[in-house]
Amino acid sequence: MTEPEPLPPPWWHSAVVYQIYPRSFCDSNGDGIGDLPGVISKLDYLVELGVDIVWFSPFFRSPQVDNGYDISDYRGIDPIFGTLADADMLIEACHERGLKVLIDLVLNHTSDQHAWFIESRVPTSSKRDWYYWRPARAGFEPGAPGAEPTNWGSAFGGSAWEYDPESREYYLHLFAKEQPDLNWLNPAVREALFETVRWWVARGVDGFRLDVINLIGKPEVFADGYVEPGSALSYALPDLIDTERAHEFIAALHQEGWGDKVLFSVGEVVGVDVEEARRYTDPLRCELDMVITFEHMAVDEHGPKWALKDFSLPELKAILARWQHGLAEVGWNSLYWCNHDQPRIVSRWGDDSPEHRVASAKTWATILHCLRGTPFIYQGEELGMTNVPFASIEEVVDIEARGFFHDATAMGMDPETALNIVRRKGRDNARSPMQWDASPQAGFTTGEPWIPVNPNYTEINAAAAVADPASVWAHYRALIALRHELTILSDGSFELLAPDHERGVAYVRILEGQRLIVVANCSSEPLPLVELDLPIIPETGVRILGTHEGTSCEVLAPWESRVYVWT
Ligand code: GLC
Ligand code: CA
Repeated sequence: MTEPEPLPPPWWHSAVVYQIYPRSFCDSNGDGIGDLPGVISKLDYLVELGVDIVWFSPFFRSPQVDNGYDISDYRGIDPIFGTLADADMLIEACHERGLKVLIDLVLNHTSDQHAWFIESRVPTSSKRDWYYWRPARAGFEPGAPGAEPTNWGSAFGGSAWEYDPESREYYLHLFAKEQPDLNWLNPAVREALFETVRWWVARGVDGFRLDVINLIGKPEVFADGYVEPGSALSYALPDLIDTERAHEFIAALHQEGWGDKVLFSVGEVVGVDVEEARRYTDPLRCELDMVITFEHMAVDEHGPKWALKDFSLPELKAILARWQHGLAEVGWNSLYWCNHDQPRIVSRWGDDSPEHRVASAKTWATILHCLRGTPFIYQGEELGMTNVPFASIEEVVDIEARGFFHDATAMGMDPETALNIVRRKGRDNARSPMQWDASPQAGFTTGEPWIPVNPNYTEINAAAAVADPASVWAHYRALIALRHELTILSDGSFELLAPDHERGVAYVRILEGQRLIVVANCSSEPLPLVELDLPIIPETGVRILGTHEGTSCEVLAPWESRVYVWT
């Protein structure tokens, strides 16, 4: 018997995703909040950049406690963003331009204003069991201090349980108290969510980004977890995720939700290692096409995200290499530095001073975009947008950062220290308005923006970047084009070089007779190439991309990176 022909790699192996945070992208009507007509007016910008897939953070009806990740109606568009007709128009406008549409579904929890939860609040209602209602801890008076059913903390600070005096019971919320967790163990809940998914499939979306999707697999019995001292996120994930159940529910979601359509899916998963990621993304299991994971984002964290640790390049490289190898044969990697939950990469691990901002933003892009996997770009990353200089905690809107600041200072942390941590890690760094041009409010709005524009917009903006062949934008565009052109980027093997080098990155990709090498200097000092132990002299190959011109062949300038190919 002859072996069956291997299937061709899926189209998204050579695709690049661009994430839009609608609130902060483009405001069409001057109310200070980005909206869907605003997005439509900027789609040609994305076409020029060359991306393939657009991921839209939630634009569904929502009280906006967590900027739309608290959905009160999965089938409605929040009026601040537009109407359902605008959403249909957006899908069509993307398709006309060859862009695929990825919507962001939050299926682990709803808003406390969702009709399901309002109904569930009534103890006798048939929807009581749609959420996790639990009595007080045995031996405790309901509502008394310490009476919460378990010691789990919410990711946004405080307990994960909210007391409801009417029914003298608690409901579970792993995020804000306005984001109650849905009980996926109840088949009626699952069916209602699958129906929601089918409804959007019928509207023509190409796939889903699924928010914290492995949290849907919860154990039947809830027990106290290990509490990390001084941590806002005090729950231990193994106590609240039943991994086997998560797999089972995600497979069911795929089967019942996608139907016979081939859609593209990205699941955000928490506390997942390479082995588990391989299972989630194994094509034979029909669960997810790729997962957004966190291990590489935690190199500057010491346990919880707010406990800062010095960044270590060797540690980052080791993690990336482990994921590159672990998902090489089975499964697939998503590749990212930035999204709406992360600070800006150029400020985080690059150097956002005027001298090195452009080169360091480009070099972090080179390192990411030449790996195996599907690269994600978060709005403004392609401009080298930086973190925001918050003067005080009052300027911070984000519920997560405010929750941390509250808990940390209540536990005795000095407010200036807490503010500095928020400046480094807070999510609002990513949420300041997209910087379109040098006009007032960066061209984002004609009104007052919901969150201040970064004052550096007069220099860092899309209009300037698009016009400048040496801009960060031009470099991203070149990297995206390479991804489309070179199969070695999507399908080549990966080998890390110089793993222990403190400030240099080097790796090889190989496909059939072809070889590609990436070298990068992640420091503000020159780096002699000999230090990177390359298996071949770079200049014998063709330099297909670089961040600098006219630098010495043997030495990388500060924050210089290059890509060489041998055919
Ligand atoms: C995900 C989202 C984040 C949100 C959280 C709760 O991590 O990316 O923005 O706050 O889930 O929905
Ligand atoms: Ca608006």
